[in-house]
Amino acid sequence: MKRLCIAALALASSACALADSAPSPIYGVTIPDGYRQWELVAPAQEADPLNELRVVLGNSAALKAYREGKLPFPDGTVLAKLAWKHEQSPEFKTASIPGAATTVQFMVKDSKKYASTGGWGFGRFINGKPADEAQHQTCFACHQALVKDRDYVFTKLAP
Ligand code: HEC
Repeated sequence: MKRLCIAALALASSACALADSAPSPIYGVTIPDGYRQWELVAPAQEADPLNELRVVLGNSAALKAYREGKLPFPDGTVLAKLAWKHEQSPEFKTASIPGAATTVQFMVKDSKKYASTGGWGFGRFINGKPADEAQHQTCFACHQALVKDRDYVFTKLAP
């Protein structure tokens, strides 16, 4: 994430604020501030060839809806999926650790703005930059084909 710094003239110091990422193609989704502090929904693991460890996090609207078992998710819900290469722990053979970060993805619920894609806007970011349009054309198709009846969301709240 880029830092925007604005010099405060009189004080000769600077005020810095976290700037949004460039928006994703098609949907215009940006990386939300503070998502690393969101609550855990569930971990996930992806087999070869991607071979990744993942976690899905949600903002407070997401977790409230999960806990109340409410579908569809309300407007304002944001889900994040963080992914890393799956590595073996150097200290303990059977333990797994996160390697290099691969992608960070978001689904943002706005039933009016994203009416044609089930109310969800999608964003995939690599090193803080949005992936290309071709990748964003795949998001809704897969989520729609497999989990339409769960408001297009795969991940369930981990017990
Ligand atoms: C080929 C199928 C497929 C495609 C394409 C796909 N996803 Fe997903 N997505 C999944 C699966 C499966 C999960 C469940 C978590 C996991 O296994 O990683 C998931 C989970 C997610 C989640 C967490 C919420 C949930 O539904 O569980 C987000 C956010 C997400 N995907 C965003 C995206 C974005 C953004 C794109 C397009 C750039 C995309 N996905 C494309 C299959 C897909």
